[in-house]
Amino acid sequence: MLYALILLLAYLLGSIPSGLIVGKAFYGVDIREHGSGNLGGTNTFRTLGVKAGLAVTIADILKGTLATSLPLIFGFDHLHPLLVGTFAVIGHMFPVFAGFRGGKAVATSGGVLLGYVPILFLILIAVFFISLYLTKYVSLSSMIAAIVAFATSLFYNHEPDIPLIIVIGLMAFFVIYRHRANIKRIINGTEPKIKWL
Ligand code: G3P
Repeated sequence: MLYALILLLAYLLGSIPSGLIVGKAFYGVDIREHGSGNLGGTNTFRTLGVKAGLAVTIADILKGTLATSLPLIFGFDHLHPLLVGTFAVIGHMFPVFAGFRGGKAVATSGGVLLGYVPILFLILIAVFFISLYLTKYVSLSSMIAAIVAFATSLFYNHEPDIPLIIVIGLMAFFVIYRHRANIKRIINGTEPKIKWL
């Protein structure tokens, strides 16, 4: 029962719609009505600029990191941090506080990895920015980082770390599935490229 409450708490934490809060509170804008329509850091950068974009990206990362710390905070040694983190990612994609129209799982999944395997998070940040430099697509770079994360999880420990492989596999699936519209736009050449890198 208590375990279920922690998972619920993680879902509610992931559901905090930072993009909506920052957009509405400081700019009077629902970012889901602009740009790609996504409730995430990239669309906040695109719609409201660097300060708002950074704030939302960091907040979305921290939701995942904090969720992985919940078992430690509440002293539940047997509750796997990755399982708890997964519920925060689900909350981020389907937020109860924002009509279940949330983000694409990238930043919050990254936050879960930051909380559980920080070195892998740093590797993925590097992969993301190298890919962004080469392709200029945020969405494609997010998907490439997700695929590299899954490939790395297979060899991360000497013995296969099954929870890590399953959770990263699931997150990679979420990330790619949530980018379906971006994939179509990349194929037909209408996906926006960034201009600042
Ligand atoms: O993190 C989401 C990003 O990969 C794509 O966002 O707004 O371009 O669909 P967006």
